Amino acid sequence: MDWPGRTGGLYYGGDYNPEQWPEEVWEEDVALMRRAGVNLVSVGVFSWARLEPLPGVHDFGWLDRVLDLLHEGGIAVNLATPTASPPPWFGLAHPDALTVTADGTRLSHGSRDTYCVHAPAYRDACLRIADALAERYFDHPALAMWHVHNEYGTVCHCDHAADAFRVWLRERHGTLKALNDAWTTSFWSQHYSAWEQITPPRATQYLPNPSQVLDFRRFVSDAMLDHFRDQKAVLRDITPDIPVTTNFVLGDWVPVNHRHWADEVDVVAIDHYPSADPPAETAFAADLARGWASGKPWLLMEQAVVTYTGPRMVAKRPGEITRLSLSHVARGSRGAMFFQWRASRGGAELWHGGMVPHAGPDSRIFEEICELGALLPTLVDACAAPVEAGAAILVDSEANWALQAPGLPSSEIAYTDAVRQAHRVLYRHGVTADLVHPSADLSAYPLVLVPALYLVSDADAGNLRRYVADGGTLVVSYLSGVADEHARVRLGGYPGALRDLLGIRVEEFHPLPPDVALTLSAPDAPDALNAPDDPDVPDDHTATFPGPRGETGTFWSEHVHLEGAEALAVYTGPHASGTPLDGQPAITRHSHGSGTALYVSTRLSDDAYARLLGLTPAPVELVRRGDWFFAVNHGDEEQKVEGVTLPPGGFAVRTHDDLDLDRSASRPREWH
Ligand code: GAL
Repeated sequence: MDWPGRTGGLYYGGDYNPEQWPEEVWEEDVALMRRAGVNLVSVGVFSWARLEPLPGVHDFGWLDRVLDLLHEGGIAVNLATPTASPPPWFGLAHPDALTVTADGTRLSHGSRDTYCVHAPAYRDACLRIADALAERYFDHPALAMWHVHNEYGTVCHCDHAADAFRVWLRERHGTLKALNDAWTTSFWSQHYSAWEQITPPRATQYLPNPSQVLDFRRFVSDAMLDHFRDQKAVLRDITPDIPVTTNFVLGDWVPVNHRHWADEVDVVAIDHYPSADPPAETAFAADLARGWASGKPWLLMEQAVVTYTGPRMVAKRPGEITRLSLSHVARGSRGAMFFQWRASRGGAELWHGGMVPHAGPDSRIFEEICELGALLPTLVDACAAPVEAGAAILVDSEANWALQAPGLPSSEIAYTDAVRQAHRVLYRHGVTADLVHPSADLSAYPLVLVPALYLVSDADAGNLRRYVADGGTLVVSYLSGVADEHARVRLGGYPGALRDLLGIRVEEFHPLPPDVALTLSAPDAPDALNAPDDPDVPDDHTATFPGPRGETGTFWSEHVHLEGAEALAVYTGPHASGTPLDGQPAITRHSHGSGTALYVSTRLSDDAYARLLGLTPAPVELVRRGDWFFAVNHGDEEQKVEGVTLPPGGFAVRTHDDLDLDRSASRPREWH
């Protein structure tokens, strides 16, 4: 597949919803798109009711005119199948195809995404509209890509879902005996004696079965992927050369295992809406997308001109749209796309902004959109080589899902926070990280971080063992290796799957209340540390761990026994005293083959984490690609990076020859 063949370079544009506007606006749209340098728009994402106003009755006239206009303007089209929002007539005709929530409520039409991917009527209607679109536009010269559906994520608990779940379970477990065993149904009289007795995890009296919940999440991801595959097959059949994608939504609620989906799309596409810390979150999202894509192209399909902070929608600061887009592109995105082209005047998302804001083109936003459109084509050479990563962080949706189960030893466990912290620490210290699955080939990475990887299969544990034996440095943190793939605890001491590799055995978990911080000190000098107020003790102790003032561990702690490892830090201080942790190892190091495996049994501060890894801070975002170097100053102060001065909010994309680069500046500590 020749992609991105239409522009040969980077894609720029956004969701274009002409159906929201009278036709006279369309010509202005195309003229403004040309002014802004737009070369791709996603059309028709939510236009089912306009394309099929009555069952089986199609109206393509308006879309013909839109596609022709765009093509005349030199703008390629990412044509969507509109299946994320069935029209009102559909739900009335097929009430059984509307979503049922876990508590049994059947949702009504009135928003979007109200469908059940397991309902035959919905599946058929989706295939019919996808087929009609492909038959109509297969040879339209504007057609550059197919955008199936939008942000898969609707979970349904209806009887169709129950039937499909049972079929999926039979395939996964083979026999009821195996399922009963995997789900530990001997607990609370949950033993199943017939497949028909099994349901999705619907609302129930008290804690649900965690293995059932985990399998249901796996099933939902697979079932939605099936829905995507069906449409892809129709499109592929009619337009074999047009790439097919769907846009991944990010978030802990998302019931999609993106890694599996990435194998099925021709282009990995993500939507990214950062909130609290846009630069770090952007780097994280981009590195995730690159990991899923694993060598194939990926594209930032949606971002906004505003930041959704939760309670507020805040206009992006001057230059921020460009900086965040640049960060995505530096990290591998084949362009920068937005939701949406023109801000809506009504409808549910009228305040979600647009490349053309309510104020119109005479606005700061549109000016910045035009500047970004002019910048992107100049970056094509800099994007030719792959992104260079100095470390990998292991991520797994299934570990995340298992750690979202109720009934864990702490209700405050947040898998994504642990992964994001690991990423943030590397990011702030100029180390680009690949976010990859535990089964990935790790041999190229000098450093691999393993945050809270609760579920680990035997095969993946073997992969980590091999990586270390061959000379790698692995840093595993608390709550890793605890459970098997059915979310059952591995017995004999935590972190079961990784015990031998780490040379430790954890006897007990001690989750900590928010106001407790345990002191961590060097095992041979527990008394030397506690000098928090001593002015003679320097602040900068990047070279040593624990630093001369000691470190602290929060949130989590464990009673660790050494079984071959040595302690790098032990728990001390008033909160440890009188507990089984007093003087016990908190951070350990174990040699295995020609590599080293560290274990961190508590949550470190970002600074302490960086000190453990031996990193030095990088004042700006840095990404290297072959001969090219991207530097983005997201801060409010001028920064100097190896010969370039970056003003507040400034950036540089240069070749190494232009710079006096010290390529070893941010290399992690070597342990052996
Ligand atoms: C995305 C979605 C778009 C739009 C956007 C609003 O998640 O795909 O359709 O809702 O959010 O910012």
